[in-house]
Amino acid sequence: MMRRAVVVGTGHYLPERVVENAEFEATLDTTDEWIRSRSGIERRHFAAEGETTSDMATAAAESALKDAGLSVEDVDAIVLATSTADLTFPSAATMVQAKLGMTQGFAFDVQAVCAGFAYALANANALIVSGQADRVLVIGSETFSRIMDWTDRATCVLFGDGAGALLLEAQEGDGSNADRGILATDLNSDGRYKDLLYVDGGVSTQNTGHLRMQGNQVFRHAVEKLAKTANTALDRAALTTADVDWIVPHQANIRIIQGTAKKMGLPMEKVVVTVQDHGNTSAASIPLALSVGKSRGQIKPGDVIVTEAIGGGLAWGAVVLRW
Ligand code: UT7
Repeated sequence: MMRRAVVVGTGHYLPERVVENAEFEATLDTTDEWIRSRSGIERRHFAAEGETTSDMATAAAESALKDAGLSVEDVDAIVLATSTADLTFPSAATMVQAKLGMTQGFAFDVQAVCAGFAYALANANALIVSGQADRVLVIGSETFSRIMDWTDRATCVLFGDGAGALLLEAQEGDGSNADRGILATDLNSDGRYKDLLYVDGGVSTQNTGHLRMQGNQVFRHAVEKLAKTANTALDRAALTTADVDWIVPHQANIRIIQGTAKKMGLPMEKVVVTVQDHGNTSAASIPLALSVGKSRGQIKPGDVIVTEAIGGGLAWGAVVLRW
């Protein structure tokens, strides 16, 4: 017998304001055609003035709790993946805890940029498997619109805001890969690549800063590292690509998503794609895609799912789970 972290609820939240690619044509030397063909993005959501990462995270968490038929009293911990917390401190996770009306347990943020949700899932899984928590809300929530340089066409057209949440619950499995829940994880980082994707400010440099990216360099690392981490996680779960029902990748660029699927030998019919509607929502993209994929009827109980993500650090990783 073995404790497994099983997904018992999903939810997501997208801000009301939708911005189509064409809107950028008024202020930047860009076109809908360039954005669509180079990234696959057609539109994205932007948070309203005053709407914060913890607001969106709370809405996604409430929806995941409702989906599971559970309430905040049933939750032991909140792990929130974000690089755009409301305040320098306290953590956005503790703000979500308060907004949910949760007065027990513990909450903390995980910061691994676009790979944040893989890191958050791996940490939540460790809390559950080691018996430190029975139910964990794992949330990804981002307001990247607040760190865009609106004069840089190479970055500001790529990102969006949103939040997604999973409720994980400890359940007994037999320890085999037929169990439901998280079956394997693989995390990696290599800080030598810091300059490829970073924000040029922060607390100890005394300004908030803007996102800076050498997109084509990140692209070059992405396909190779994502296919490798996904295959490593599958190996650890004693599964092969033939066992995979769905890849739910980080949604940064349709060409990275296609390249990774191809390198893994999987057809696009097995990939959940939301990048056209959400843009790159950093740590929120995977839980958003899981929640949307479930509501579209793509993801079903018993399915083997591989999630993979890469971003600033570089940091990257994959999680294999049975839904
Ligand atoms: O989620 C975190 C990880 N991040 C990623 O995964 C992002 C990875 N990178 C990418 O998705 C792609 O590299 C981009 C979508 C950012 C760019 O696509 P690309 O095919 O790598 O293009 P590029 O950066 O090599 O730029 C090609 C050209 C350049 O012009 P020149 O130098 O060839 O004359 C850019 O200046 O496209 C130009 N360009 C644009 N043109 C019109 C860059 N941005 C734009 C734009 N509109 N918005």
